[in-house]
Amino acid sequence: MRTRLLDGLLAGALALLSAASLLALAPPAGSADAGSAAEVAALRAAYRRPAEMPPPPSDNPTTAARAQLGRRLFFDPSLSSTGTMSCSSCHQPAHGFSDGLPLARGAGGKALARRSPTIWNLAWAPFLFWDGRAEGLEAQAAAPIEAHEEMGQPLGTLVERMAGDPGWRSAFAAAFPGASPAVSKDNLVRALAAWERTLVSPRTRFDAWVDGDNAALSPAERRGLSLFHGPAGCANCHEGWAFTDHAFYDIGLPDRPGVAPDLGRGPVLGLARADRAFKTPTLREAMRRAPFMHDGSIPTIEAVIEHYAAGVADRPTLPPELPRRLSLDPAQRADLIAFLNTLTSAPDAALPEMATPPVAPAPPPGLTPVARARVSQKNRQFAPLRVALTPGGTLEIVNDDTTAHNIRIDSPELQRNSGIQDPGQTVTWRIPTAGRYVAFCGIHPRMRLEVTVAAP
Ligand code: HEC
Ligand code: HEC
Repeated sequence: MRTRLLDGLLAGALALLSAASLLALAPPAGSADAGSAAEVAALRAAYRRPAEMPPPPSDNPTTAARAQLGRRLFFDPSLSSTGTMSCSSCHQPAHGFSDGLPLARGAGGKALARRSPTIWNLAWAPFLFWDGRAEGLEAQAAAPIEAHEEMGQPLGTLVERMAGDPGWRSAFAAAFPGASPAVSKDNLVRALAAWERTLVSPRTRFDAWVDGDNAALSPAERRGLSLFHGPAGCANCHEGWAFTDHAFYDIGLPDRPGVAPDLGRGPVLGLARADRAFKTPTLREAMRRAPFMHDGSIPTIEAVIEHYAAGVADRPTLPPELPRRLSLDPAQRADLIAFLNTLTSAPDAALPEMATPPVAPAPPPGLTPVARARVSQKNRQFAPLRVALTPGGTLEIVNDDTTAHNIRIDSPELQRNSGIQDPGQTVTWRIPTAGRYVAFCGIHPRMRLEVTVAAP
């Protein structure tokens, strides 16, 4: 499998390189893609792949045996009540782990309410589902197996059946050494999650360009990148190497006559301001995933660009990150699409081998506790990222950003919810309980603030 992938990628890269070297002989095509050396260096830094994976949960380390078992489970139709549907029926590798349908279809053939999202690059995702209602891959995995309209299989029955099968028993025992019983609901979802964590989208020509190969992108593709990163505003949300900020936005998809509007993130947070907000999908491997959006309402990439340029439905929930009147001429649209194509691997690329890149080290210990800590949120980032408070200390979080936030602490010992915090507003919380907490934004959940409160 690895050979096929590498061969495919290599052949593709070589073909493209020779095309690009021909282009390189031509005179520079206008100034739009030129950019100073400093600008190019900044672009490359903004999109460089991380060297490390985020750490998996401490109770589910990613081992090869565990990921292998998860992979087997993922592709096995015996997980569904009808014996005909596996996770991969809706998350198909060839379709960028979506399924090519506007709305997913469950075991009974019934259309579900939303489209099957990609599952690439979810090791970095703080919340799962289009509306972010599941925290973590383990929490997510049980849902589709049991959901009546998806696979319709009670986990208890499934686990009992697997425990009676010597093949599954030994695969679970290898994946969960020492666990008794090894075949259990918890271990089944852990294995699926462990495999999903290894799904890092393959390198493409774009990564070769990021790594310094100027010829890897054509002038049109580089103009597309400049537009994407600059005037078109796409990178306001599709940011970084995976082209997502893992946040939730209303991008103004028009309501459809006769269909009750899907309110997405709003009801999950209990905030009307987050109504119609859905998660920013990764744009890696996106060109395999048409039709697009949570409701599959946009059939082609051309129509996606048309939506951002001229189709946005104006309503109060549109975020400031979304450009309102984007004017893109036909040449610019073609450049944008040429660039987006460079984020998708060659059509015959096989699934990558399970990768277990090194895990990021734990944060350094030791901050001196203070009675009052003030935290900024500029550019959708808490600064500092960690604070330590003395017993009963006060946390003051300022919205000095240009967009609304919703700060939350959601741990068994301590819950806080700021509601909508508009720019200019400050949230002040006394934290009475000693412990270690994570504050996050419900709308931009990659914003994470570690709060330690010392014991009296
Ligand atoms: C019938 C089609 C179908 C099947 C079968 C299915 N899924 Fe999904 N999956 C979906 C849909 C639709 C969503 C989005 C639902 C939502 O957002 O409300 C989804 C969401 C997800 C997500 C969240 C992705 C994200 O970006 O947040 C993950 C992970 C996932 N599925 C994994 C699995 C696993 C593992 C299985 C097998 C146990 C599975 N799915 C089976 C259709 C399916
Ligand atoms: C305000 C944040 C924001 C901006 C700006 C933005 N996007 Fe998106 N994008 C999203 C969100 C959120 C979705 C999913 C929306 C939904 O399904 O309701 C999305 C979906 C997409 C999809 C569909 C992916 C899929 O799997 O369905 C593509 C392609 C896309 N955006 C490209 C672009 C391009 C190109 C631009 C610039 C012209 C852009 N986006 C600007 C947030 C944004």
